[in-house]
Amino acid sequence: MRALEAFAKVNRSLLVLGKRPDGFHELDTLFQTIDLSDELLFEEDDGLSLSIAGGAIPADGTNLVLRAARALSERAGGARGARLHLVKRIPVGAGLGGGSADAAATLLGLNALWGLGLAAEQLRPVAASVGSDVAFFLFGGRARGTGRGERIEPLPDVPDESLVLLLPPFGMPTPEDYGALGAPPLPAGSPLRPAGEPLPDRNDLEPAAERLRPELSALRGSLRAAGAASARLSGSGSTVFGVFRSPEEARRAAEALDGRDGVRAAVTRTISRAEWSRRAVPWRPAGGAAREALR
Ligand code: C5P
Repeated sequence: MRALEAFAKVNRSLLVLGKRPDGFHELDTLFQTIDLSDELLFEEDDGLSLSIAGGAIPADGTNLVLRAARALSERAGGARGARLHLVKRIPVGAGLGGGSADAAATLLGLNALWGLGLAAEQLRPVAASVGSDVAFFLFGGRARGTGRGERIEPLPDVPDESLVLLLPPFGMPTPEDYGALGAPPLPAGSPLRPAGEPLPDRNDLEPAAERLRPELSALRGSLRAAGAASARLSGSGSTVFGVFRSPEEARRAAEALDGRDGVRAAVTRTISRAEWSRRAVPWRPAGGAAREALR
């Protein structure tokens, strides 16, 4: 049995450039890996199967892990099997990319388990067929995403940032946020910012999310009042995160904000691509509890 860690993300910036004829929204976003992860275990088997510990998500064919496994099996040109077990720790419907991270870890793990030898570049189209932001999780660290979010340009590592995540007791379905946005059609020949130009500290989905859930605006305000240099919605929410100047400041803010109105506060930090490569990609020995779960 082998194990991989699947790390979550936040969007340090998210610009919606317009609605496309295919119904998706054209984005220019800055993805950033954070130190919060699910664990995925792999065992050779004849058929494909999935079991899940934690998190109220179905282990059926709608699960992104099984969709990624099927897509890779097709790409490999034949039915292949594996027994998968997911230990879910990343909150669901939170804008932290948990399902997409699991799907990408499935691709990386099964690529190794099945001895396919596909490079990340070759896995990228398989990832994009499973979901708009799955491809980012093949690269980790900091990366710019354009198109639906599936066109990834890995960016150089920057110093780690201290974050506080505020996790409300509700999730935000991504299509609802995009629907409430009422974005205008993507203008023809819409120019992207030149490479290297910093993306602004902005998330264009915030006004729509905050109309649907006004308490999200108050949460951003509470992070700023607690000293955050920036306080943004992650992706389509519901997580709101603050960027702090030190781990100590982040810890103090999290202590002050935790538990208000059922909102959980968690301290974390960003993870560079160098660290992600060390921690996410290599096989790790599966822990005792996970081993038990597979019996
Ligand atoms: O690609 P994914 O399955 O993650 O997208 C879920 C939903 O989010 C889409 O069906 C669409 O409603 C919305 N979406 C969008 N534009 C994007 C990404 C997602 O409108 N770039």
